[in-house]
Amino acid sequence: MIAESAKHPVRRWLSRCLGVLALVAIGWGAGVPATGNTPATLGLPAPAAAPDAAQVTLGRRLFMDPRLSHDGTIACASCHVPEQGFAAGSAPVAVGRGGRQLARNAPSLLNVGLAGPLLRDGRAASLEDQVWGPLLHEDEQWNPSPEALVARLRDIPAYARAFAEAFPGEGLTLRTLPAALAAYERSLAAGGSAFDRFSYGGEPEALSREARAGYTVFVWSSCDTCHRIGGAHAAFTDNRFHNVGIEWARLNGRLGPRKAFADEGRAAVSGDPADRFAFRTPSLRNVALTAPYMHDGSLATLREVVDWYDDGGGADPGRHVALRRLGLTEVQKRQLIAFLESLSSPGAAEMAREALSAARR
Ligand code: HEC
Ligand code: HEC
Repeated sequence: MIAESAKHPVRRWLSRCLGVLALVAIGWGAGVPATGNTPATLGLPAPAAAPDAAQVTLGRRLFMDPRLSHDGTIACASCHVPEQGFAAGSAPVAVGRGGRQLARNAPSLLNVGLAGPLLRDGRAASLEDQVWGPLLHEDEQWNPSPEALVARLRDIPAYARAFAEAFPGEGLTLRTLPAALAAYERSLAAGGSAFDRFSYGGEPEALSREARAGYTVFVWSSCDTCHRIGGAHAAFTDNRFHNVGIEWARLNGRLGPRKAFADEGRAAVSGDPADRFAFRTPSLRNVALTAPYMHDGSLATLREVVDWYDDGGGADPGRHVALRRLGLTEVQKRQLIAFLESLSSPGAAEMAREALSAARR
């Protein structure tokens, strides 16, 4: 492991044990059903396999390290900011190398291990494949080639050592660099929200009255047509691509300044004109942490999102048929927002803390 501080081994060991005990106690208190979920992952579909701990630690270090960019200025975490739900909260669209603006908002990476085809248009098949996108893109981390980056990282003794330990017999290669980052991303499983304890943990009191009323508004408004809630767990997405009217409104000057170029969305990947302006349904888990919203960050707050849907998703004739004018009252809007806020995971803050301390080592 890389230069892990050994300052207070006993205290650290103790606090870890206490942490585990506390989790077990919460688990018992909640009467967690035997789904293989811990309190932190309550409400999530079970993962295929838990990622390897040494690979996760290494991946976290890489994720936080600006040396992964050619000029040493941009880490993955520069755009997927740990304290902002691993999304970018500072600007509607992500800002890359030397202040260059990208076309889209950087999405949250919490629960990204459960997402379907990756990116907002689904053009990346796996986390491992996706990694090379930002690492090589000239507006992002701008490495000349995968080989050049791997060679450069091999010259950093701490990484050479850490890779040898996390990937015995293999070390730092074109395969293990993305594997370590992907292992870390898969570890960002964040369930156990008030909603999960209410729905899957046998805790009827976990959800406030306001949020419970908002749950009814959510279902009545057909939000769960796309943001799915299952009987044993909830992804809050169908992992499919839909047009909720944003891009058309931007192009026609109905939402902020008129945009010059269209983002075709899924259609650019599928070639199907029916997919024009369709983007992957984002999960709503931890959505209170990840403003601004939508593929281009054009809605600044949850209130703006709720108003957007209340209004039926703008005037694009091609938008999804489930969108209709809702006519929600002020009270119902507040309830719906309270429901969305109840989807925040208590584990997200700890993940941010771990990420920031990995950066400081
Ligand atoms: C300059 C900003 C920037 C940097 C640096 C960056 N990303 Fe991203 N990331 C984005 C944007 C913007 C998107 C959405 C792009 C799209 O949908 O076309 C994205 C999307 C993703 C997704 C897809 C998430 C989903 O739900 O589909 C993953 C995974 C991801 N990034 C991981 C990483 C990793 C790992 C790194 C570092 C190797 C990284 N990113 C570096 C801006 C950035
Ligand atoms: C037809 C499917 C569909 C329906 C119905 C739907 N959504 Fe969405 N939702 C989406 C898609 C697709 C996006 C992403 C759109 C984009 O990126 O332009 C989205 C985005 C969002 C976002 C922003 C998430 C983020 O991280 O940017 C929120 C919040 C949201 N929806 C809440 C709701 C609520 C509340 C309702 C019901 C009033 C609802 N949605 C109904 C498909 C749907």
